[in-house]
Amino acid sequence: MIFKQLNKISCKTYLIGSENSREALVVDPVLNYVPEYVSLLKNEGLKLTHIIDTHTHADHISGAGALAEQTGAVYVMHQLSPVRCVAFRVPDGFECRLGDIPARVMHTPGHTNDSLCLIFSDRILTGDTLFLDDGGAGRTDLPGGDPAQHWESMQKIVKLPDHLLVYPAHEYRGREPSSLAEQKKRNPNLQPRTKEAYTKWLSDMKLTPAEWMGDVLKANYDCSQDPKAARIPTDAPACEVKGTASPKLGEQQTPTISVAEVKRRIAANQLKGAVIIDVREPAELKSDLGAIGGVINVPVGQVAQRLGELEKYKDTEVITVCKSGMRADVAANLLIKAGFKKVFNMTGGMTAFRAAEKT
Ligand SMILES: [Fe+2]
Repeated sequence: MIFKQLNKISCKTYLIGSENSREALVVDPVLNYVPEYVSLLKNEGLKLTHIIDTHTHADHISGAGALAEQTGAVYVMHQLSPVRCVAFRVPDGFECRLGDIPARVMHTPGHTNDSLCLIFSDRILTGDTLFLDDGGAGRTDLPGGDPAQHWESMQKIVKLPDHLLVYPAHEYRGREPSSLAEQKKRNPNLQPRTKEAYTKWLSDMKLTPAEWMGDVLKANYDCSQDPKAARIPTDAPACEVKGTASPKLGEQQTPTISVAEVKRRIAANQLKGAVIIDVREPAELKSDLGAIGGVINVPVGQVAQRLGELEKYKDTEVITVCKSGMRADVAANLLIKAGFKKVFNMTGGMTAFRAAEKT
């Protein structure tokens, strides 16, 4: 079996080919690289028969339509795919053969409802259903995403044989593919949890996808072959759970400020020089928890895009706030990396702030 990963970016495209029949399959092609794929196929003497997108991508424009047009290969996706130019839609359990290489499709919704994994005898292409190690899995807050369905998909993956090597559609930190046995040990999304606990774990992060991802989805629904159909930041880890909010997840400890200290300073009128950035969604500021007076509201998913607007606070004390402290930590991290000098995450968020009023 010929097996190659074709891209130099974090978005991974796989070429699978039969040594005997010289037939080939490309999985998750990226539009910008289609000319390279075409010349590689020619140089290797391979005939592209099928192209598969593991799901409707929200972070890059698929090259599948263009590649199908240029090579005559059949564009395949799961039967729930909304992508217009798909030629062949497959159900869960669909079995196929590439020359002498058998493969099976497993429907694994959660990141999107049309997500699938492609299983070969010795490896599994997981799309964004499962990443490697602490990369976890693709985010579940995109249109069609669902944490509960993702949990179901994880249960399917856990039951697969340990020896399968895991090849995801993204790898943002240079991690090397390893076996499913390793992933069962190391990947947080594969750890035993109830469906409720899993759903809560993902939902609590409540991270909003960046606005540009909507443009990418639309381009992919329409099979756009225009690389400028959406403005995509270079190599952003956008399909990660915290991808559009945190460039280097968990790499540093963010300085914190306690609720008690914030309250003390409000009471003593000592917070005047500081800026409080509430990174929840606008509707949450109007919920029962309310908001601290005078905050600036920048939802965590927009922090990266609105850095220019916040630039004037680079030398000011900045306190980030959310519901529980998790999103605020992501936002604080991002601000620190962008050069903000005095950033603190209010520990426990507005939940702790309100609880302190009752004690
Ligand atoms: Fe994705």
